Amino acid sequence: METSTFSFTALYTGETWAAHGLSIPELRTPAGDLMYKALGPMEWASKRLFGTNLRQMLIERHTMIDRLLIGLMEELPGLQVLEIACGLSARGCRFSRQFPELRYVEADLPQMAANKVAALARVPGLSSNHAVVALDILADGGPNALEAVLTRAFDRKRPLVVVTEGLMNYFPLPVVSAVWERLAEGLRRFPAAAYVTESYAPPEKRLLRLAAHMGAAGLRVVSRSSAGILFKDADEAATHLKDRGFDRVEVAKPGGANPIFVLAGRLDPRA
Ligand SMILES: C[S@@+](CC[C@H](N)C(=O)[O-])C[C@H]1O[C@@H](n2cnc3c(N)ncnc32)[C@H](O)[C@@H]1O
Repeated sequence: METSTFSFTALYTGETWAAHGLSIPELRTPAGDLMYKALGPMEWASKRLFGTNLRQMLIERHTMIDRLLIGLMEELPGLQVLEIACGLSARGCRFSRQFPELRYVEADLPQMAANKVAALARVPGLSSNHAVVALDILADGGPNALEAVLTRAFDRKRPLVVVTEGLMNYFPLPVVSAVWERLAEGLRRFPAAAYVTESYAPPEKRLLRLAAHMGAAGLRVVSRSSAGILFKDADEAATHLKDRGFDRVEVAKPGGANPIFVLAGRLDPRA
């Protein structure tokens, strides 16, 4: 399956994070800046009409995942992080600056990973524990497959958390299910592990639901993907994730009008 068709969406998110103090200048792009300016009126109208907008959702998503990761680091000493589909996320830089001992590996499709490596080469003082690698979450084998990266990039004796942000909703449910099963299986080889991802419920308010529906339809066209809402609510998503091989699943919600929630699939420490 060709999935680089939606890589460009990372540019908008990257610029949104930059505009809200969650990124660094080296990760800004002219295309992201252009998209950010072009979508300004739509974002403004959405905020006025619905009390929320895409930008707010992107910020809440990112900061909720940050908070969850900090909690996991406190709970699981020596925790390592793999951020899959990192795009222009500056979390690797932010966390590595704050926690220099943290092993933080960012991963994306080869082209996006190469762009990220080039951008980070301009950042002074990067931690030697911070790396960017090529990874295709759908690859069945080869050096860019999940299993190969888990073997190559991490210490099997320490806990690991995998993050996917802004990725799974571009895939149809059978693909999501297969990826989650492989993640659970791969993570089981670590003494304790977690998988953090976000998902979306259909908004309760009718007008916002219609706008979300139309937005997803537009995104499907421009990104040539299956972008859409996969679950009717957070409980259904949590059950689906748990049934793919996790011991338990925790759910975090931002509150307010945003229909987003973050799932943390957990594999508890084994004796
Ligand atoms: C919507 S962007 C999200 C990027 C970033 N996490 C964010 O929140 O902005 C989707 C990202 O998924 C990456 N991607 C697409 N297909 C992928 C795959 N098969 N394996 C890994 N990453 C993939 C794209 O290159 C892109 O960076």
